[in-house]
Amino acid sequence: MAASGLYSRRAVVGSALALSACGAKDAQSQSVPADLPPLKTVAPFRIGTCVQALHLDDPALAALIARQANQLTAEWQMKMEYIVQPDGSFRFDAPDRIAAFARAHGMGLLGHTLIWYAQAPEAFQRLDENRIGFADAYRNYILAVVERYRGLAVGWDVVNEAVAEDGNGWRGSLWSERLGDFEHIALAYRTAREADPQATLLLNDYNLEYNDTKRATFLKLAERLLASGAPLTGLGTQMHVAADIAPGKITRMIRELASLGLPIHVSELDVSLTRSENKLLSRGELLRRQTAVYAETAEAFMALPQRQRFAFTLWGLRDRDSWLTAENAGDAPAVFDNAGRPKAGAAALVAAFRA
Ligand code: G3I
Repeated sequence: MAASGLYSRRAVVGSALALSACGAKDAQSQSVPADLPPLKTVAPFRIGTCVQALHLDDPALAALIARQANQLTAEWQMKMEYIVQPDGSFRFDAPDRIAAFARAHGMGLLGHTLIWYAQAPEAFQRLDENRIGFADAYRNYILAVVERYRGLAVGWDVVNEAVAEDGNGWRGSLWSERLGDFEHIALAYRTAREADPQATLLLNDYNLEYNDTKRATFLKLAERLLASGAPLTGLGTQMHVAADIAPGKITRMIRELASLGLPIHVSELDVSLTRSENKLLSRGELLRRQTAVYAETAEAFMALPQRQRFAFTLWGLRDRDSWLTAENAGDAPAVFDNAGRPKAGAAALVAAFRA
């Protein structure tokens, strides 16, 4: 791989790996040049991050997001849990704020997520309508949300996490009960396309790198949607992974997802240190492996044809903002440290994107 300037992969990853092995948690960010090129300036595709409206009140974080990313995913405020009120009305204050930030900074918006088994607001649960009435409410929600951000939204996670946890079959939900296992999914894609003729309509899920059965079921669902004529036009792989994931699993997963020919979205990437199964690994070894996982993911994504590289989204830029750090203060899953300094993972991404 030809050296590509100051941050050739070999130079960067090698030195970062060496330093991170020394075990000092912050040494990583001290070893990486603070003037590392912003991710969005070196990647030949959009770089995303998740965000909450309150993050935009933090000038340092808002500046980091604007410098590094050109696509935003609302971490939770474009989900039913935020939008649908108990009386069935919709609130859009926070999502509109996120959309306004994206628009002001020339970013794309990734709508996350329209239909999710994990969220069935009271207003929907209370609906005692017959199937037609329920379908109308379901469609009206999708139409209202997607039309609101048409022109700014580059894509939608139309359905999130449809495959069962163990990979055998699909999840049950209020949506599947009321509208049918497959029908509720197909209806969601048709309705989203009706609301926005342009946006990429994605199917998004997690553990597709860890669970071969789940990946196979996910791909079968995608194939069934395509065969039915549903306007599925992209696949999202969340990638909430641990630092000790076996090398090669990520590469295999991305290759298999790409076999359908659809654009691929690495949609929620973070690499946990504390969720690693191997509890015998030192902090330094975990950090070394974390850097290698970011490198493998970026290289596998770069190996896709350009038309299949939808976007590469990090589930939070700084360690302190991550849902994982809220779960375990000892975690440091992101590619920027709490001060917003690039870590070895960021250098590994830059090296891979520039290759
Ligand atoms: O900020 C409010 C706070 O004001 C309020 O007091 C508190 C209690 O109601 O809620 C806080 O909001 C919480 C929000 O996270 C911010 O912390 C929401 O309740 C909580 O539901 C929300 O959790 C999000 C979760 O999805 C559920 O929507 C996480 O931030 C978000 O990281 C997580 O993201 C998911 C993806 O959507 C799908 N893939 C897995 C991923 C991680 O679980």
